[in-house]
Amino acid sequence: MRSHYCGELNLSHDGQEVTLCGWVHRRRDHGGVIFLDMRDREGITQVVIDPDTEEAFALADKARSEYVLKITGFVRPRPEGTTNANMSTGEIEMLAKHVEVLNEAQTPPFQIEGYTDVGEDVRLKSRVIDLRRPEMQEKMILRSKVTSAVRAFMDARGFLDVETPVLTRATPEGARDYLVPSRTHEGKFFALPQSPQLFKQMLMVSGFDRYYQIVKCFRDEDLRADRQPEFTQIDIETSFMDEAQIMGTTEELVRHVFSKTKGVEFGEFPHMTYADAMNRYGSDKPDLRIPLELVDVADLMASVEFKVFKGPAEDPKGRVAALKVTGGAQLSRKQIDDYTKFVSIYGAKGLAWIKVNELENGANGLQSPIIKFLGDDVAMQIMERLGAENGDIVFFGADREKVVNEALGALRCKIGADLNLYTKEWAPLWIVDFPMFEETDDGKLTALHHPFTAPSCSPEELENNPVTALSRAYDMVINGYEVGGGSVRIHRQEMQQTVFRLLSIGEEEQREKFGFLLDALQYGAPPHGGLAFGLDRLVMLLCGTDNIRDVIAFPKTQSAACLLTQAPGEVDGNQLRDLNIRIRRDPASATSH
Ligand code: AMO
Ligand code: AMP
Repeated sequence: MRSHYCGELNLSHDGQEVTLCGWVHRRRDHGGVIFLDMRDREGITQVVIDPDTEEAFALADKARSEYVLKITGFVRPRPEGTTNANMSTGEIEMLAKHVEVLNEAQTPPFQIEGYTDVGEDVRLKSRVIDLRRPEMQEKMILRSKVTSAVRAFMDARGFLDVETPVLTRATPEGARDYLVPSRTHEGKFFALPQSPQLFKQMLMVSGFDRYYQIVKCFRDEDLRADRQPEFTQIDIETSFMDEAQIMGTTEELVRHVFSKTKGVEFGEFPHMTYADAMNRYGSDKPDLRIPLELVDVADLMASVEFKVFKGPAEDPKGRVAALKVTGGAQLSRKQIDDYTKFVSIYGAKGLAWIKVNELENGANGLQSPIIKFLGDDVAMQIMERLGAENGDIVFFGADREKVVNEALGALRCKIGADLNLYTKEWAPLWIVDFPMFEETDDGKLTALHHPFTAPSCSPEELENNPVTALSRAYDMVINGYEVGGGSVRIHRQEMQQTVFRLLSIGEEEQREKFGFLLDALQYGAPPHGGLAFGLDRLVMLLCGTDNIRDVIAFPKTQSAACLLTQAPGEVDGNQLRDLNIRIRRDPASATSH
């Protein structure tokens, strides 16, 4: 129907007859002449309808916002003084000859033009309209460009796109499973994959050597701004590559994507150990755009009487750390109180601080509610260790290591954002040398990555020192987001069983849950490893948004519902009967679980 997209026209089309199809973005009447801004996914063209073209004028006169029109006319330069440098089509307009109304439209629930300050729930409910907004169209177009760039890169390097099942068994990635009841196998359930982890490993045993897939994963977990219950991975697995080669290839992929879609050129990504990241940034996904760092001061605090600090300083599982904010002495009492509230989300019991006013006066030049507890000497030693200067503020966290890291790590990012301390636009890096396991409070081990990750040591060494053992896992972090993670896998059955045993997964459970994998490892499994990127998170970064829902056409809310289709919904009794499922309506039993 159309000859051009609305956004495509420019002075090179001057004098040409063209046909546009699209939506009425805006209509203005100007002294007998009608101006229609016609919109499609590529942009907007201004169309002029003159009363001389009577029929076209009459139709344009009836047209309202979001009517669908087909308009034929001539391209001409805009009259002097009316050009618009902010529009790609701002130097031309179309003089209409024929107008056809392809469809009418009711007034949309919110404006498509300009800034929409309606709540996100309204936007999600009317997602069809929301997606018409040029801002949203740009994001979806960019997302499509990213997947094209990924495919081009992977295809060129001999990676094969192989699909893996969606109706499958549980894969342990640490979240709850979405379950699908089986009709043909009474009382049994499929799990939707949390990732294709086990299938991609088995594809390596089958000899496919290089696999990738852009694939949906499902995780029933607590949702945040960068998490969705249904999200997309760029999933990759290779045989006969070590971690350096896998990181090299996947880093190149990310460099390719940023360069192709945004013109951003990255240098080589620095590598940082997990231990270093936790010590310096309190996080395994540090945002290195922010120059603030955590500094240990436990040794200085062990001598003070102040229990809040002395306790954690002497506890092997405790940490006392300081965070110096250059220029932070200007923070008001109210701001400090707000930060204290902020860290309490992470379990911190307080947020001690010292303002550095006149360091030349020694401890008398420091302002703080805790100096009286620390003593002047310790206070000054801390200032020296931190290299504090007049105008700085120093915050303190003292608690279990995990609480201090989470609280000060988050505070570091919050202050970085609030005071706009960013020193660069992009900060990609690799985190390496993760511990194999994490110890839970009741002394059990859980896999830090997943139980198929290879340790950097032998099975015997692992068994002897499971808590300090490191793994061959790596995460890619960009601007404080974990955009991807992977590892070299265990390819020998013996090692896999050792890991299962350490995770307290008994023989019977191993057979029941992972028998097919253990069997596969017996038939000549090659050394292999891989990684998965979160596509949504990558696109989020490329779009400059911090809301994952903005880069997914039909996302779910924080409570894992789709406001557009009202999913999840009820199903009728017959369907449930077929599945041998009965819903318990008893509220007492519902809350007791
Ligand atoms: P992992 O669990 O680290 O690894 O997931 C890989 C990447 O997927 C993204 N991601 C998410 N994105 C949006 N919403 C979510 N709920 C969500 N969960 C994860 C993150 C993350 O880095 N099988 C392994 C990969 C491997 O070892 O090869 C895995 O799934 O960006
Ligand atoms: P208190 O003696 O409880 O009034 O605390 C004195 C100061 O120490 C206050 O500024 C508190 O915010 C701070 N504080 C208390 N507990 C902690 C903690 N676990 N870590 C850091 N600062 C704390």
